[in-house]
Amino acid sequence: MQFGTKNIKFAAVNFILKMTVFTTKSEIQKFISSLNDKNKTLGLVPTMGALHEGHSSLVKKALQENDVTMVSIFVNPTQFDNKEDLEKYPRSLKTDVLLLKTLDPNIIVYAPSVDDIYNGQTKAQKFSFDGLEFEMEGEFRTGHFDGVGTVVKRLFEIVKPKHAYFGEKDFQQLQIIRKLVDKHQIPINIKGCKIHRASNGLAMSSRNERLKPKYKEAAPFIYKTLKTAKEKFGTKSATVVVEWVKQQFEKHDLLKLEYFTIADTKTLKPIKRKSSKKNYRAFIAVYADGIRLIDNIALN
Ligand code: PAF
Repeated sequence: MQFGTKNIKFAAVNFILKMTVFTTKSEIQKFISSLNDKNKTLGLVPTMGALHEGHSSLVKKALQENDVTMVSIFVNPTQFDNKEDLEKYPRSLKTDVLLLKTLDPNIIVYAPSVDDIYNGQTKAQKFSFDGLEFEMEGEFRTGHFDGVGTVVKRLFEIVKPKHAYFGEKDFQQLQIIRKLVDKHQIPINIKGCKIHRASNGLAMSSRNERLKPKYKEAAPFIYKTLKTAKEKFGTKSATVVVEWVKQQFEKHDLLKLEYFTIADTKTLKPIKRKSSKKNYRAFIAVYADGIRLIDNIALN
């Protein structure tokens, strides 16, 4: 085995923190076969690191429901449509491992390199998610869900967990991953977990830490607006609610609305006419000083 500087870095993290941090799929595969021999269940929490309480809530759920919990930490280049966003994405492996250690020192971390995942060809596969991929995030972030689909499928093939955990903050991503396992007949249970919020309502996100103080103070306006939109949706038409939300952001000095959509939870298509038989959610994307924040809320 080649022992490059990267491996030395990971070995040091392993040693200092006394946690198991694997960096290659061959190590993972050896570990997985030892688990299978012992009939142990494995839960995977895929992340891009910069872990926060939102991730902790997914990890805690995985710890409750599996014999072994694995957290993957990998900033996936193919899901970024913006080079600067990829470069600025926070990377903090040591702090992440420390946080996981406080949850349970037996958690296994998989922190692969780009080459380990992509075998020298850092390119997204093309997927069809039956139209889910063209709505909202798909419209504004070209190729994003091909990148997500590629890395999640890869991780599933390598790790082969029984359960995999994803947050509802990225609700569209969650529905797309459900579609991915369904269409590709991947035998993994996908578990959606509730959005974890700060006490001021702001949805937890790795991007929050990049917000300057005045934007951090302003950002809870997003959830406050979603909650009022939900109230209004009880008595008013979707068109009226959408218009009302747009006006709130037009009046706002710091937050710039990218989209606000009320959509069918299953198809993610924008609502046409309200039906009591369907479930709806409101989805929002906002820019705060160039940092993109997303959130959503169940409406009925
Ligand atoms: O939600 C994320 O952090 C990422 O999109 C995921 C699922 C880990 C894939 O890179």
